[in-house]
Amino acid sequence: MKKDIYILAIESSCDDTSASVICNDKILSNVTANQEIHAKYDGVVPELASRAHQQNIVPVVYEALKVANIKKNDLNAIAFTRGPGLMGSLLVGTSFAKSFALGLNIPLIDINHMQAHILAHFIDDGSKMPQFPFICLTISGGHTQLIKISDYFEMEILGETIDDAVGEAFDKSAKILGLPYPGGPLIDKYAQEGNPKTFKFTQPKVGDLEFSFSGLKTQILYFLQKQVKQNPDFIKENLNDICASIQYTIIEILMTKLKNAAKQTGIKHIAIAGGVSANSEIRKRLLFAQKHWGWTTYIPDFEYTTDNAGMIAIAGYLKYLQNDFSDMSISATARLKVTE
Ligand code: KG4
Ligand code: ZN
Repeated sequence: MKKDIYILAIESSCDDTSASVICNDKILSNVTANQEIHAKYDGVVPELASRAHQQNIVPVVYEALKVANIKKNDLNAIAFTRGPGLMGSLLVGTSFAKSFALGLNIPLIDINHMQAHILAHFIDDGSKMPQFPFICLTISGGHTQLIKISDYFEMEILGETIDDAVGEAFDKSAKILGLPYPGGPLIDKYAQEGNPKTFKFTQPKVGDLEFSFSGLKTQILYFLQKQVKQNPDFIKENLNDICASIQYTIIEILMTKLKNAAKQTGIKHIAIAGGVSANSEIRKRLLFAQKHWGWTTYIPDFEYTTDNAGMIAIAGYLKYLQNDFSDMSISATARLKVTE
C-alpha cells in the first residue's frame, strides 16, 4: 500500500498568515489569520505586515496541526511560499519553514505563490480537476495573466497586464468611491443590487492578450468628480449602479481576453485563479461560457481563491512526488515570475 504523505505548508507573502496540513492531495486544515490593521491605511503597509506575521505564525501553525489532528513528528515535509510577495513578509514564513524543517529533519519545499494559485485546482475537494493543457486567467491584487499550463510545473505566459493588476483596479475604484481596503469584495457586494448598464466606461485598446486598467481608473475618477460637482450625493445615491457598471466593465475585459486566448490556442479548458476569482460576476460568466461556448471551466472553491496555505500545500505535495526539494540556503524572492 502507498504511504500517506503529510505536508505542512506556510503562506506569508502579503498580509495573510496561513498554515495548512495536507494528506496527499486532500486538505486536512487551512487556517488563516487576516490582518485587519491595513484597512485604515488604504492598502497593505509592509512593515506592519511583517510584524503581524511574526505574531501570528506560531499560533496559526499550532492551530493547523490541531485541526488536522496530527503531530509535528508525523510530517513528511514543510512547504513555504518563496515569492513573489513583500520581502519582509516572505522572510517570516521562509525563516519559520527552514527552522521547522531543520528541527524535524525533514525536507523543505519552496513554492512559487503564483503557481500555487493555479495548482489549487488539483486539491481533491470533490470538484473536477483540470485537464492538460488548459488556460488559466490568474487575477489577483498583484497579477493579471493568461497562462497556458501544459503540466503541473510547465507554464507559459500568453499575455499579461501592461500596468495595474485587476485586483488593483477593483481596489482603486473602491477607494475613489470612499470604500475601505480591500474594496474588491465590496464592489462585488453592491454590484449585486445594481444595474450594470447604467454607466458606460470604455475599454482599453491594447494587444489581444494584453490587459490595461490604469485608463479605466482615471475614467472613473474624472466621471465621478464631474458628477459629484453637480450633485454632492451622487455616489451615495448611485452606489449600487456605479459598482455594477465598474464590475461589468472589468469582467467584460477579462472575458474578451479569455475568448481571444481560447481562439488563438484552440484550448477550451479554462480556469481562473487568484483573489479576484472570488468575484461573483466572473464566476457567473464562466458558467455561461461552459453552457453555451463549449468550454470546460474550472472555478476554485472560495476557500482557495484569496491567499491561503492550502494552495501552497498542494503545490508542495506535487513537488514532493517529483522529489523536488529545496536546499537550506534557499532565500525568499520578492520578484518571481510564474514560469520560474
Ligand atoms: O490573490 P489575493 O488574495 O492576493 C494577492 O496575491 O494579490 O488577491 C487579492 C485581491 C484584492 O485586490 C481583492 O480586492 C480582490 O482580490 N478580491 C476581489 C473579490 N474578492 C477579492 N475582487 C473582486 N471581487 C471579489 N469578490
Ligand atoms: Zn495571491
